[in-house]
Amino acid sequence: MAERPRAHALSERIVASSAALDGAGSVIAKKIRGIMPAGGGVKDVLSGVFLGHALHPLLTDVPIGAWTSATILDLVGGESSRPAAQKLVGIGLAAAAPTAWTGWTDWADTEPGNPTVRRLGLVHAAANGTAALMYGLSLAARRRGAHTTGVVFGLAGAGAMGAGGWLGGDLVFARGVGVNQTAFDAEPGDWTAVLDASMLSDDRPTAALAGELPLVVVKRDGTIYAMADRCAHRGGPLHEGELEGDCIACPWHGSRFRLADGSVERGPSAYPQPVYEARVHDGRVEVRAAR
Ligand code: FES
Repeated sequence: MAERPRAHALSERIVASSAALDGAGSVIAKKIRGIMPAGGGVKDVLSGVFLGHALHPLLTDVPIGAWTSATILDLVGGESSRPAAQKLVGIGLAAAAPTAWTGWTDWADTEPGNPTVRRLGLVHAAANGTAALMYGLSLAARRRGAHTTGVVFGLAGAGAMGAGGWLGGDLVFARGVGVNQTAFDAEPGDWTAVLDASMLSDDRPTAALAGELPLVVVKRDGTIYAMADRCAHRGGPLHEGELEGDCIACPWHGSRFRLADGSVERGPSAYPQPVYEARVHDGRVEVRAAR
């Protein structure tokens, strides 16, 4: 029988042993969403709407790169590299706050949904917070000339940063947090009947299925729009959302997608929503992948 990687088993143990964080996690997530509500502006920037994917992983390169470089200089750079190592520690600290904010806003949007990813996200944040604290102490020690103490704190920071980075990778690559939730949708290549046309009322989002693909179908001014129902952001059910202008708004975090082409009118989704061609044929609504 295939063995699971030990690191995966460890993340499962962290999930199982951190259920006590659920209450506090929910309160913190609500507070963050209150400070940074959906509605465009700063929230959309922090969510990476302008980039087309989350901003957080891009920003993490700065503290991770600066601190890793500082630690390498500490270990093999010799005395002449001490000023450069000190500067790198400071650069990493300066980048840590905006990096953390992008992570916190992404994490706050894991509600509602799988509580295990919220627990892991909190542990990830705690590890990275510890890393920042250790590098802060390292910088303070270096500034007062206590180089060896600074190096020791830096090594402790590198260890915490490694743990935080590993958990971040687990969240994204093993648990799919922040990835486009529609990336692997199987699109209907040819016209596929999805529901009776009589089931549609004007301006009422209606759930449908194209094979196994959940859709939301909207009839408006004689035109029928079909869009993937699972929100690309975190998988919210768009058929439960409201129509706002020429868009449909996700009921979970308020992303707005244009009915005509699925483009993002407002985040936090950084990904457009797949749309499909739709027609009525023999009393049935049919859809197919846009050509
Ligand atoms: S799931 Fe977050 S906006 Fe849709």
